[in-house]
Amino acid sequence: MKDLFGKALLDYQNGNYSEDLVTSTNISDEDILPLPYLFRSFSEMPKLEQKALKLSKGKVLDVGCGAGNHALWLQKKGLFVTCIDSSEGAIEVAKARGVINTELKSLLEYTVSPTEKFDTILLLMNGTGIFQELSHVATYLKHLKSLLNSNGQILIDSSDISYMYEDEDGGMWLDLNQGYPGELDYFLSYKGQSENPMKWLYLDFETLKTACITVGLQCEKIMDGEHFDYLVRIY
Ligand SMILES: C[S@@+](CC[C@H](N)C(=O)[O-])C[C@H]1O[C@@H](n2cnc3c(N)ncnc32)[C@H](O)[C@@H]1O
Repeated sequence: MKDLFGKALLDYQNGNYSEDLVTSTNISDEDILPLPYLFRSFSEMPKLEQKALKLSKGKVLDVGCGAGNHALWLQKKGLFVTCIDSSEGAIEVAKARGVINTELKSLLEYTVSPTEKFDTILLLMNGTGIFQELSHVATYLKHLKSLLNSNGQILIDSSDISYMYEDEDGGMWLDLNQGYPGELDYFLSYKGQSENPMKWLYLDFETLKTACITVGLQCEKIMDGEHFDYLVRIY
């Protein structure tokens, strides 16, 4: 991992913003991910993220915190927040912006004692992406459950991307032999350098709900977003 995502966050944080991130997937062309979006304030966040923040309570874990936008808002509201991210640059930026509790850890490496568990766990900006593949979802959900207090909640957003497989006549060009359609190969580049290809998972609501049930969790939809995205509460 070259941590180009982290390098881009650091550049922006340090006043060296000159280029945006460029992303693409195995089923979509290049797209620009503007760095200012990764430093969004509450009013610039999608409604679905605003809702997740308003529903957050107690001790909060922000998984894949990036630059710490969600954590900073919650901290200001007086909540105790811990941020984890697997990107060194992201954690450096979150700290520099004022997030008090940070850990440079991948989700599956992060464990806590029974007294340190969380009341709310946030995974935002297509939080299911972190699960990478459908076959990993149960492992990640069980791990998240192990970090959660008994009355706790996981707030996570995702998208049903089946629309990306629709052709102009409304038909689908889905190859059923290719596995779950939300499993994408994700490519990122920044300032002429390419990151190692990553897997990024989009889940439709019914698939996520079924996965939750198989590991003894409940899943309810809180709201739909503006473009096939949605927010759920898992408990
Ligand atoms: C799409 S960004 C979202 C950042 C932030 N939540 C936001 O909304 O601006 C995904 C973040 O998850 C982090 N990430 C990816 N896989 C992770 C993992 N297994 N454990 C912890 N963080 C991870 C990435 O480094 C990145 O910062």
